Amino acid sequence: MTETAYQKCINPDCGAQFDCGQSLFKCPECGELLDILYNWDKIEIQDKMSEFGRRWAGRDNRLDLSGVWRFRELLSFCEDWHKVSIGEGQTILQQNDAVARYVDMEAGRLHLQYEGLNPSGSFKDNGMTAAFSHAKMVGATASACASTGNTSASMALYAHSCGVKCTVFIGSGRIAFGKLSQAMDYGAQTIQILGDFDDCMKQVQDVCTQRGLYLLNSLNPFRLEGQKTIMYRIIEGLNWEVPDWIVVPGGNLGNSSAFGKAFFELKELGLIERIPRMAIINATGADTLTDLVNNKNLAWNNGKVDQAIIDDYYADLTARNFSPHTCASAIEISRPVNLKKCLRTIDICDGIVRAVTDEEIVDAKAIIGRHGLGCEPASAATIAGLKHLRQEGIIGGDERVACVLTGHLLKDPDKTVNYHKDNQGQFSNPPVEAPNDLDEILKLIK
Ligand code: F0G
Repeated sequence: MTETAYQKCINPDCGAQFDCGQSLFKCPECGELLDILYNWDKIEIQDKMSEFGRRWAGRDNRLDLSGVWRFRELLSFCEDWHKVSIGEGQTILQQNDAVARYVDMEAGRLHLQYEGLNPSGSFKDNGMTAAFSHAKMVGATASACASTGNTSASMALYAHSCGVKCTVFIGSGRIAFGKLSQAMDYGAQTIQILGDFDDCMKQVQDVCTQRGLYLLNSLNPFRLEGQKTIMYRIIEGLNWEVPDWIVVPGGNLGNSSAFGKAFFELKELGLIERIPRMAIINATGADTLTDLVNNKNLAWNNGKVDQAIIDDYYADLTARNFSPHTCASAIEISRPVNLKKCLRTIDICDGIVRAVTDEEIVDAKAIIGRHGLGCEPASAATIAGLKHLRQEGIIGGDERVACVLTGHLLKDPDKTVNYHKDNQGQFSNPPVEAPNDLDEILKLIK
């Protein structure tokens, strides 16, 4: 199996290669991020993407049932018996004209890729199924992650299903209640650190190194292989056509990194003819990517990223004792670990980056909720961002757009209740009090 895939450092000056049998989360030679690369000539791959769709007919096969492993030839790094699945990726691409109207797009052009339908309620399951398969392949028995919530919920679910111990690190008071309840209920050891996500991310790497734990953050390149399939399913939902734009929230930048890699590989394999553009949306309170790309001109530059720009930026954050703040706690991150891979995606997909305010996020969330699919605040950043890009005229009203709704509404019930109950926004829908009296109740029915 090691013949079909290998790990490679993304730094062109290093380019060190490693076997997939190794468990690494950074290049041991230079400390940069690692990619999973494939020897495509050793893998028997479908001639057309539509051939993957045939697997819908074989749903008694657990790998065909999985919306990730249905595309297994495109992430062929381990044998089938290592593959862990709990039925992830049964997600839908919903055309939504009501939300299209809100962002001033023509009917039939806006699609919502609803990843809240995953077993743990977020897109993370796409990555966990892949990373836990690798964990089984290397014989890991204990795992850990830092999380703004969804990674911990997903990891705990998968760890339990394959008998691996798990510890999650979360910033105290920084995680939505739905997610925290999942981590505890699924049996993870939950350690709340008096700090933010970036502090947790730093600690977990040291803990994993010292204790030999298997790391499940998106630094883990195998996780991103699973997340590529979200793009395959969007293409599937468009009857195997590529949209004009993908819009995705940006936090630790694992998704955007995975999506760019997915399109690059599909084009390389001749399975698609063109690569869509991508818009990555930050919250204004956690907008490192936006600032670095739009104001400091940071770019992929064939892999020769100007590290001094990043170092100066982070030194300034430290000097100011900066900690990010947004109602979209899932993307409340100021030192995104996949920054460089995301810059590569921007290069591959002619990508752009924008930041949206909390107010824009919660209003967009209410619109998405009202029109069919509830989501958590970070997911709604996509629609808020799309509204900006329509106003700027960067995305045309007739272009075909797919927004990735990354997490379920019920992940963060507090934000939703407060928005409506306290009349916080233009789409608030507060409950009305009624006496326990039929006539009075009837008077209230609209
Ligand atoms: N949306 C949701 C619902 C998330 O949970 C996350 C990340 C993102 C978007 C951002 O995705 O990191 O790939 O850019 N949540 C992580 C966590 C950080 O710990 O659950 P990204």
